[in-house]
Amino acid sequence: MTDFKMPEAQVKAEFVRTNFDVIASKYDLFNDLNSFFLHRYWKNSIIQLIQKTFPKKNLDCMDLCCGTGDISVRLTQMDIANNVLSVDFSENMLNVARERLAGISKSKLEIGDATNLKNFSNASFDVVTVGFGLRNVDNLSKALSEIYRVLKPGGLFINLDVGKVKNPIIRLFANFYFFRIVPLIGYIIWGAKNDMFDYLPVSSLSYPDQENLKSMIEQAKFQNVEYKNFVFGNVAMHWGIKA
Ligand SMILES: C[S@@+](CC[C@H](N)C(=O)[O-])C[C@H]1O[C@@H](n2cnc3c(N)ncnc32)[C@H](O)[C@@H]1O
Repeated sequence: MTDFKMPEAQVKAEFVRTNFDVIASKYDLFNDLNSFFLHRYWKNSIIQLIQKTFPKKNLDCMDLCCGTGDISVRLTQMDIANNVLSVDFSENMLNVARERLAGISKSKLEIGDATNLKNFSNASFDVVTVGFGLRNVDNLSKALSEIYRVLKPGGLFINLDVGKVKNPIIRLFANFYFFRIVPLIGYIIWGAKNDMFDYLPVSSLSYPDQENLKSMIEQAKFQNVEYKNFVFGNVAMHWGIKA
């Protein structure tokens, strides 16, 4: 384990925003290496679920906590996507996304906070995706209720994030990898220590497990909430529909 202490709720957002600003330029490389490129497969699963749910619709999509735009790029490649709005509160992460999405007419980007989507009206989107973002917000219930609010009735919310491994032996290996090796990969890529490499695994400890997150999504009024585990539950994709 590590001595790193999670920032208190009132300073968490600022800690997260400024540190993602710092690591933005090499974030994609970090993601590829620490997930053995598997994050690409998990993100493709988001797209497959959208295509299965809405085979024919002209979709207005929001990729919330979009970071460098990995999911946004995939959303824009769907024929059924009408518009894709990418939202993040880290300017530097959003700038990387802006470069990747440049010239794609259905793409728009905007600075915004997942816990206060004040620039967006009720019932504006058919789909809201979040990839590895909700673990970072300082008020998860607020973010879920904002996502619910901006979705149209019948709209689909999909969340991909770290999960909890149930099998104790696999959990031992997973924790060793997440708490020891992932910070080392960060250190090698950036050539210096950064609190962010410890924050990433430690933030998973206070994030709800798969069943509790499912309950929270249901409490936010979503229906037909389900989830799917990847790699023994190290990562989970949750989804639900706005009634
Ligand atoms: C781990 S990155 C994930 C990026 C991308 N979705 C992906 O899957 O590769 C988390 C992102 O969430 C953003 N974020 C965290 N809290 C946020 C908030 N309250 N509002 C908006 N963005 C937030 C961070 O700035 C960061 O870019």
